[in-house]
Amino acid sequence: VATAGFHETQSKKDAQDIIEKYGKCVIKYDGLAAGKGVYVCHSAAESLVALDALGKAFGDNCPLIIEELLSGDEVSIIGVTDGKSFLSFSPSQDHKQLLDGDLGPNTGGMGAYTPVPGLSDKLLRDIDERIIAPTMRGLAAEQFNYRGFIYFGIMVTQKGPFLLEYNVRLGDPEAEVLLPALKSPLAEILDAALAGRLASYTAEFHHGFFADVVLVSGGYPKGYNTGCVISGLDAVEDVIVFHSGTEKDGEKILSAGGRVLNVIGQGTTLDDALAKIYREAEKI
Ligand code: GLY
Repeated sequence: VATAGFHETQSKKDAQDIIEKYGKCVIKYDGLAAGKGVYVCHSAAESLVALDALGKAFGDNCPLIIEELLSGDEVSIIGVTDGKSFLSFSPSQDHKQLLDGDLGPNTGGMGAYTPVPGLSDKLLRDIDERIIAPTMRGLAAEQFNYRGFIYFGIMVTQKGPFLLEYNVRLGDPEAEVLLPALKSPLAEILDAALAGRLASYTAEFHHGFFADVVLVSGGYPKGYNTGCVISGLDAVEDVIVFHSGTEKDGEKILSAGGRVLNVIGQGTTLDDALAKIYREAEKI
């Protein structure tokens, strides 16, 4: 499977040496971190600051993966396997940085869309050959009878696509666009996966673009308030609103987390979908 060069370490000293060697790199806490254990660093100085922050959050000498920094466009290929075949949903792209223009810190995800404009058939074939097919061969070789979702987090670079991460779940916020874009019943697909029949199952998808914009509490991903009353949910039209960090207090809906609501819209073009979402989100 095509991946970036990487080192695993549990020693802060080792980590410092590797950072000096790589200069710019990606430093990941090797464990669950709710999307907040990854630092993308463009210099050794920035990497050392990230190392300190990870030490504070997860303990000095916590397990880390330090990877070469790959530049390009990220794409998520998410689908279902029955252990032999992989049925891909349409490619999606999530946006993790807080601000427009890929600026600001990494978050749990500020939005996503599907399909991804400009993803050629040749690139999809490369992704299959370099990442998906070897993964499926690996599952078979290890006799790992896995049936369920696979999420391939991929960076498309000048040198081709590389795998950044696997997840064995749908993505968030990708799920919020992939499921509305799916025309076939999800239950049918899962049934085919459990029965080992995915190779002969053809999934259908709705036409057009689906996008999700995540509405977050002010201050996220650092400190933020909760308990704010959310109004305007009844006023939105022609979009789907999925709740994330909310809770009910009698008749009221309150914010209860950093990422509060997902507003999903469909359009003939991505711009149409986004314009609809931003228009409706103004009402909330
Ligand atoms: N969107 C990133 C993830 O679900 O891991």
